[in-house]
Amino acid sequence: MATQLLTNGSPLYTTKDSFSGEDGAIPVLDYSKLVSSDPSLRSLAVHDMGRACIDYGCFIVTNHAIPDTVIKRPIDKLFEFFDLPEDEKRKYDHKDPTDLIRWGKGNLNHVSREFVKMAVHPTFHCASSPPGFSEILQEYTHKVRELGIELLGGISTALGLERDYIEKKMNLKSGYDFFTANDYPSRQHSENRIGQFAHIDPSLIILIIQNVSGGLQVEHNGKWLNVNLKPDWIFVNVADHLEILTNGKYKSALHRVVVNNEVRRATLPLFLGPSLDTVVSPAPEFTDNGRSPAYLGITYKQYLEYNNFHVIDGKSCLNQIR
Ligand code: SIN
Ligand code: FE2
Repeated sequence: MATQLLTNGSPLYTTKDSFSGEDGAIPVLDYSKLVSSDPSLRSLAVHDMGRACIDYGCFIVTNHAIPDTVIKRPIDKLFEFFDLPEDEKRKYDHKDPTDLIRWGKGNLNHVSREFVKMAVHPTFHCASSPPGFSEILQEYTHKVRELGIELLGGISTALGLERDYIEKKMNLKSGYDFFTANDYPSRQHSENRIGQFAHIDPSLIILIIQNVSGGLQVEHNGKWLNVNLKPDWIFVNVADHLEILTNGKYKSALHRVVVNNEVRRATLPLFLGPSLDTVVSPAPEFTDNGRSPAYLGITYKQYLEYNNFHVIDGKSCLNQIR
């Protein structure tokens, strides 16, 4: 199985065998249109984004104006972090899910994965090494958070609400954001394997970059679509709290990870969430005309804590608050 290269140099992460997904189907949002001075371009972009959220639960963002270096450096630093001696990483080997930095490694389906979780907003927490990691991640977080809030503005508009509706209702000024960065080593097996079972995640939206083009797959109408990204593209998916807020109009995207035997893979998902004390429940705009709320309202903090102990079949606790 040869590793193909995308024209811009990003290794294509081939997923053959029974794990092959479909290529090229995920909607692509040209971000420059969303922030264009031309109102007709803006409303077209808003419309397309709304459709993507309803039909796919995800989209790819291009032309977002975040400089290439800001996107690329965190991945290089992540590899440096994961390459540190284990003693160094064990400093963060906490078991308590509320810890603000947590490192761990696990083995699923004979596929090993290391991860590091860091809470990055409203207060920024980061591993103290490798040198520069904290500065680089902080710059990245800042820019991607701004992008995410713009996207949520577009999503509010697409939902027929005021542009700052989600920002205000979810108290995003003190929103709780975290990374759960992943490292999947190469050459573990001769064939493709599941690296993370199909699951959904907490938060409003998740913005992801990865060092390769593929490995992540999203379910769509019973098929798996490959998330093939160029290095400067950002993948965005709807997560549980947007599903709750919209009373199920938008669905938390079901996704999984397939690892191959060729390329070491690192991913950096930023989970953009409400503030920890925000009670998230279906908004009145989605429960009028006889539509009853389909989810219980609990704070984001309660949800995250509950979720740590009540994941069933790899899925978040969303189905347990219905
Ligand atoms: C995930 O956040 O579900 C996994 C991201 C990835 O490794 O592609
Ligand atoms: Fe996930």
